[in-house]
Amino acid sequence: MILVLNGPNLRRLGTREPDVYGAETFEDLAELCRDTGRKLGEHVEVRQTDDEAELIGWLHEAADGRIPVVLNPAAFTHYSYAVRDAIAQRTAPLVEVHISNPAAREEFRHTSVVAGVATGTIAGFGLQSYVLALHAIAEMNSSS
Ligand code: DQA
Repeated sequence: MILVLNGPNLRRLGTREPDVYGAETFEDLAELCRDTGRKLGEHVEVRQTDDEAELIGWLHEAADGRIPVVLNPAAFTHYSYAVRDAIAQRTAPLVEVHISNPAAREEFRHTSVVAGVATGTIAGFGLQSYVLALHAIAEMNSSS
């Protein structure tokens, strides 16, 4: 089981700034992740919330269940110490992902307050960032 958790505004993929995030919808993303899981022999569950407390609850659930996570914290990336503290409790790999490359965008996106407690970060490959992250987790699972 791998949880794919998405933060605020990501349910609006497809209509949200398509020049930055592409034309594919959140449902397309969810299907891509589940399909990648099927190929890797892992059950993948995809969730999205605009609510910081709900996201933190899911991170606690992952920590308690030793569940690996692919996390796009969206804007929380840049300022949420509460999300960072929740990730710091992780008991399994957690890969931070971004569709765009925040380092190539506005100054405020250059800081990730969560990167330092993630296993690693994949950014800038569009929806393929999630596919790469799922492969990285499956690889870690098989070699541990
Ligand atoms: C994002 C990048 C963030 O800066 C932004 O706030 C998002 C999406 C990405 O996937 O590229 O909501 O995490």
